[in-house]
Amino acid sequence: MNENAKNVTISAGQIIGICDVAPGHFLLSIKLPGSFSAPVPGQFVMLRNLENGETLLSRPFSVYGFRTENGQTILELLCRVAGRGTRLLSRLGAGGRVGVLGPLGHGFTVDAAVKRIILLAGGVGAAPLAFFLQEHVRRVSPLPVTAFLGAKTSEIATMLQARFTGLSVTHLATDDGSAGYHGAVTDMLSEELQTCDYESTQILACGPTAMTRALARLLGDKPIRCQVSLEERMACGVGACIGCVVATKDAYGEMIYKRVCKDGPVFDIREIVWNHPF
Ligand SMILES: Cc1cc2nc3c(=O)[nH]c(=O)nc-3n(C[C@H](O)[C@H](O)[C@H](O)COP(=O)(O)OP(=O)(O)OC[C@H]3O[C@@H](n4cnc5c(N)ncnc54)[C@H](O)[C@@H]3O)c2cc1C
Ligand code: FES
Repeated sequence: MNENAKNVTISAGQIIGICDVAPGHFLLSIKLPGSFSAPVPGQFVMLRNLENGETLLSRPFSVYGFRTENGQTILELLCRVAGRGTRLLSRLGAGGRVGVLGPLGHGFTVDAAVKRIILLAGGVGAAPLAFFLQEHVRRVSPLPVTAFLGAKTSEIATMLQARFTGLSVTHLATDDGSAGYHGAVTDMLSEELQTCDYESTQILACGPTAMTRALARLLGDKPIRCQVSLEERMACGVGACIGCVVATKDAYGEMIYKRVCKDGPVFDIREIVWNHPF
């Protein structure tokens, strides 16, 4: 059994707060038993709606916040309404019951040689990066951080930005141009990469596949460290169904399939075969 698996529990959670934070986005605060292990940034949970039997499968969500307050363990998730499962979740009220399996997967790791971190987020991909900022940078290692946040509209961008306050630089990009740069957040990063010191910088990224794929193209063979958290569709979340595999390269360049839930969701961006047909 690996180190991560040892700490995984299935817990009964109770919603203590649910609020709309931007159009189509809501913040869930869930009270968990104190036995739930503290997650590391980049880990996720499988969340099951116990109030509505219409969605049998759990849904994966990155940890956005985790804290102990007045003896209560509280997990926060930032959710986008994507389809039926998340729509039903968004309708739960305070007191609603959920099943929480986690913490799952491997989180972000920072190389000891790194002197500066760049966070690149697309939409709710900001969730694990905000948690990273809270846990790693503010508690473990106070490295300088620059954040690039991409969103569809200014309302979503403003909501994402709220957890990135206190950084010396936060760049915003929106698809509709209503806040910050009008266009892809990777285009803004492209400018930054022209002047940054590759050897001492590490990029951590999470967002839609189109963004992470564009990032992989942008980095090419620049010698800059980069980890990316992937958002594949998942069924079991624990490595049993093989439903979330992605093509990767091993140390010899041979292609092997890995499970995003068990082997990831965080990977070295150069490990992924981005042009694989499926
Ligand atoms: C490791 C991980 C962490 C995630 N963290 C978050 C998070 O913090 N906040 C958040 O809002 N979402 C997160 N997601 C995505 C979230 O799990 C999906 O949006 C959700 O499962 C969709 O469920 P649904 O029933 O509402 O949609 P469905 O009806 O199942 O699908 C609706 C639409 O969403 C797309 N979709 C379904 N599953 C995923 C997925 N896993 N990733 C991307 N798109 C998907 C479908 O292709 C479809 O277009 C994460 C996914 C993974 C794998
Ligand atoms: S979701 Fe089942 S193996 Fe990853």
